Amino acid sequence: MERLSLDPVEPGALFFAPMEGITDEAYRKTILKLYPEWDYLATDFLRVPAAGHYPNKHVVRHFGKELFSIPRIQSKTMFQILTSHRSFTVDLVKQLEDLGVPWLDMNIGCPSNTVCKSQGGSYLLRDLRTLAPLVRSIRQNFSGRFTCKIRIGYHDTSGFEDSIRLLNDEGAELITVHARTRDDMYKAPAKWSFIARAARISQVPVIGNGDVWATTDVKRMLEETGCHGVMVARGALKAPWLAQDYRKENFYPTHAETADRIREFFREYRATLEAEGVSARGVLKQSKSVARFMVDDFENGPLLRRGLMLSQSVSEFYAQIETLPS
Ligand SMILES: Cc1cc2nc3c(=O)[nH]c(=O)nc-3n(C[C@H](O)[C@H](O)[C@H](O)COP(=O)(O)O)c2cc1C
Repeated sequence: MERLSLDPVEPGALFFAPMEGITDEAYRKTILKLYPEWDYLATDFLRVPAAGHYPNKHVVRHFGKELFSIPRIQSKTMFQILTSHRSFTVDLVKQLEDLGVPWLDMNIGCPSNTVCKSQGGSYLLRDLRTLAPLVRSIRQNFSGRFTCKIRIGYHDTSGFEDSIRLLNDEGAELITVHARTRDDMYKAPAKWSFIARAARISQVPVIGNGDVWATTDVKRMLEETGCHGVMVARGALKAPWLAQDYRKENFYPTHAETADRIREFFREYRATLEAEGVSARGVLKQSKSVARFMVDDFENGPLLRRGLMLSQSVSEFYAQIETLPS
């Protein structure tokens, strides 16, 4: 496929974050259809193989075939990879280049033990001398947009500014800063002052990420940190319509409206999964993953959540969605 040329990322852009196990093609399709107000979405990461190479079919299946056939979707999506100096990075990057991928994002933030044991993800922030040639090798072999997503450090933040400078020097075109260290995992609060520091010293746009749960947080992050755009993860999983609400200023939905939106979301999501031929077991598993935070703000949120998570069948799960209290 011929490579798309991408428009610059506008100030104030809203990104739906990559979330492994969530943001697959069916989920992204649902989001794009119901909430096109998200400026950008991201794929789950593709792990660069430590030996051999993936057939093209595997790469296309992982990212989603529509990403390779529908330019409108392609132009809104960051394709994420996760690698380490032990992996066959250049081979995979060249393969993605040949497949016409327009936007490659490098995951330098994953905190999982497995990933860090293989010296990838956030582990790379421990040793910037290893990170630099790895970033360079991607830049040199990829002619599309190349961006990086980092945390503010591994155990501590002493190397933070150096990591931003390194990414600038090695040719990253945009940097997403998840304002927690690896040791912080996903615990609140995200330290937005680091996003502000990055925005001050970086020569390329900085996207802020961490603890955006409401439309007011988007506005506050842009104002307090001077970042170029905002990326939302768990807040977007909880309220996939967040970008829509943000674009309509001063819109604060009632519980009844939220219940209706949850129903609308799940009807669409289920239809998308079923149209893709996902098994009933798969539909149930994915629906549970996606529902994790959605009912938290209801009066009996923990009970509703428990009911959903303990569902034994698709019909049991969806009956509860249809009868959410309004
Ligand atoms: C279930 C889950 C899966 C995630 N998977 C990825 C991933 O594949 N790539 C990535 O860069 N970040 C991943 N993250 C991190 C988020 O993109 C984001 O940086 C982090 O959750 C902080 O944002 P938040 O406070 O808005 O949730 C994941 C987070 C969650 C909760």
